[in-house]
Amino acid sequence: MSTLLTDQFGRFHSYLRISLTPACNFRCTYCMPEEGHPALPSSHLLSAREIIKLVSWLADEGVTKVRLTGGEPTLRKDLVEIVEGIGRIPQIRQIGMTTNGFLLGEQLPRLIEAGLTSVNISLDSLSEQTFQKIARTNGLSRVLDSIHLALQTPEIEVKINSVLMRGINETEAPDLVRYFSNQETELRFIEFMPFGGNHWELSKFVPSAETRLLISNQFELEKINETHDSVSEPFRIKNHPLKVGFISSITDQFCTSCSRIRLTADGKFRSCLFDDGEVDLLTPLRKGADKNEILSLLTSHLKVKPAKHGGHDFSVQTTQRSMTSIGG
Ligand code: 5AD
Ligand code: SF4
Repeated sequence: MSTLLTDQFGRFHSYLRISLTPACNFRCTYCMPEEGHPALPSSHLLSAREIIKLVSWLADEGVTKVRLTGGEPTLRKDLVEIVEGIGRIPQIRQIGMTTNGFLLGEQLPRLIEAGLTSVNISLDSLSEQTFQKIARTNGLSRVLDSIHLALQTPEIEVKINSVLMRGINETEAPDLVRYFSNQETELRFIEFMPFGGNHWELSKFVPSAETRLLISNQFELEKINETHDSVSEPFRIKNHPLKVGFISSITDQFCTSCSRIRLTADGKFRSCLFDDGEVDLLTPLRKGADKNEILSLLTSHLKVKPAKHGGHDFSVQTTQRSMTSIGG
């Protein structure tokens, strides 16, 4: 196995997350600045061919898992082409996508045919009013339709992502558990993280331990001891198929086992979600840089990946970019 994708702390990076666009049809408060994100002309974004080329070079170095994120990946007109191209790379064993679900229903059959293996759908509330307050748009019933369609499609693995914020939706955790309790899926509660423009404050932050306690008042949570290829700590609801996961990005940093690297939609390589240091790959790629040149740019940056959380103390600093422009 090549060691190009190993950093100074011995972490090997086999999981590539690619943001396909900073644009989104929602403007969730925890993700987007209120004014939305300035639209980038498509010439500023990695093209389908460029994405597929970069993935295949990284696959030669040991990447086996890819996740397509955004913004909202279903807004990309060439999404099926991208999934298909990545799907043809022999070393890539899993292709996931994170989506808000609004446009997923109509696209799901073609995406599965193209090779999509898993989908993470965001759902932060079951109340139309709260949903609207968070996403700053309507759409709950369409999102629920997409979720149900995905759950009924055996070819695809489905996870549901919820971000809880104090005073907004944190008391809904048990309702969400009840709603999915009879489904073969994993419902993951993700701690609210600070990003550029999302007005993160400690007073809005809900630690996973609190959510777990709230859920345990109504459901019996049993820890699952399987080794889990994920950042979530998984539990099972007793006598039910549902798994409940907690992604404690703030209270329980999982950086020591991080295997993730990222490409932003505008072609920057990012070694850590929280490290604003980036290296531009799009410009050299368009100037004709070959595989060795691109990999050397990328790996010299990866070698200095910080030990944890971009080296930040969350109470004083956040990222410059918003989540939607980095890609979850
Ligand atoms: N904190 C935690 N998770 C976030 N996401 C977006 N912004 C944040 C944030 N500030 C996650 C959501 C969504 C995915 C696109 O990114 O869970 O599912
Ligand atoms: Fe869009 Fe997802 Fe961000 Fe919401 S969380 S604004 S749906 S990218």
